[in-house]
Amino acid sequence: MIYLDYAATSYKKPEAVYRAVESVLRRGASVGRGGYPASRFSAERVFACREEVRRLFSAPSEESVVFTCNATMALNMAIKGLLPSGGRAVISGFEHNAVVRPLKALERRGVSFAVAAAPPFDRDAQLEAFRHALSSGAALAVCTQVSNVYGCILPVEEIDALCAEKGVPLVIDASQSAGSVALDLSRLRAARFLCAPGHKGLYGPQGTGVLICRDAEAATLIEGGTGSDSRSYEQPAFLPDRFEAGTLNAAGIAGLGEGVRFINRLGTARILAHERALIGLAARELARIPGVRTFYGGEDAQAGVLSFTVGDVPCETAAERLAAGGIAVRAGLHCAPLAHQTGGTLETGTVRASVSAFSTESDVEALVIAVRALSRG
Ligand code: ALA
Repeated sequence: MIYLDYAATSYKKPEAVYRAVESVLRRGASVGRGGYPASRFSAERVFACREEVRRLFSAPSEESVVFTCNATMALNMAIKGLLPSGGRAVISGFEHNAVVRPLKALERRGVSFAVAAAPPFDRDAQLEAFRHALSSGAALAVCTQVSNVYGCILPVEEIDALCAEKGVPLVIDASQSAGSVALDLSRLRAARFLCAPGHKGLYGPQGTGVLICRDAEAATLIEGGTGSDSRSYEQPAFLPDRFEAGTLNAAGIAGLGEGVRFINRLGTARILAHERALIGLAARELARIPGVRTFYGGEDAQAGVLSFTVGDVPCETAAERLAAGGIAVRAGLHCAPLAHQTGGTLETGTVRASVSAFSTESDVEALVIAVRALSRG
C-alpha cells in the first residue's frame, strides 16, 4: 500500500513507538495508583512523554501537559472549559467539526460564534478577518494552525497578538500542525490551551491526545479519580490532575512519548521541509493532468496536505479507484464542512493526499501515475 492519508492518522511510526507500547502493555500497571514497580514503570514512561511534549511546544511545565483520548476531546475540554456559561466565540473558517460541533451544542447555553472567514492561503485576509470579528467583542477565539483540508498555514502567532490586545483567550487546534509546524507557546500571550492528537503528526497510537494548559482555572468537563487528594469530593485544582480524571492510557502515552522524541530529535523544520517538498511535487505534477484541479498556495506548498479534484469524477469514486490501485487517500469533506465552505469545495468535496516524515518521492510518483490513469477514464 502507498499510504498518503497521514492527515487522518500516521500509519508508519518510528520503531520505538511500537516497542514502547508493547513494553508498557507487558510490564506496566496504572499510573499514580501504587508505589510498586509496575506502576512506577508506567509512571516513568508517562512522565517522559510529558517532558518530550513540553520541549516540543515550550509548554510552561510537564504538569501543564494533560493527556486526552484525542484532539476532539482536548478541544471539547478547552472550549467548554472556557465558555461554561455563554459568550461569543470567534473561529477561523477552517475549523474542523471538533470545534464547530461543540460550539453548536453550546448554543443551548447561550454561546454564539462568528466565523473569521478568509480564502485559503491568504494570510493577510485571514488576519484582517480575525481583526474585524474580534472588534465586536469575544469571550474566546479558536484557530487551527494548519487546515486539514487545504494544508494552508494560519498565522496563529499574529492572531494570538490580536487576541492579547483584546484580552480574548485563544485555543489553538494543532491537529494538523503538531510535529511539523513549529509552535513556541512561551512566545504567545493569549493562548490558553493547545490541542493536538497523538496519532497524527506526533506518531503516537490512536487513542492518545494532548491538551496543553495555560489556564488551570477553566471549568472541568470530566471529573473523577486521579490517585491524588482522594479524601476530597472535589476535583483537584492542580495540573495535570484537574483535567486528567480516570486511568491513563499508559501504553499509548508511552508510544506517544517515543513519537515526540523522534520529532524532537529530527526537528520540525526538517520534517516540514520534507513534507512541503513532496506536496509541492505532487501539486505541480497533478496540475499538469488535464481536468485535475489542485487547491494549492501557488508558489510553494505550506504543509503536508494537498486537496484536488479529478474532472467530474466524484471524489469518493476517485478515492475508491485509487484504493483499488493500492493508494490510500481520503475523500469527501474530511469532517470539516466549514473549511470546504470557506474554500468553495462544499458541493464536491475533494480528494486529499497527505504525507509524513516517512513518505517518499516514489509515493508521490505512484499517486501521479494513478491519477493520470483515472483522468483518462
Ligand atoms: N480529522 C482527520 C482528517 O482530517 C481525521 O482526516
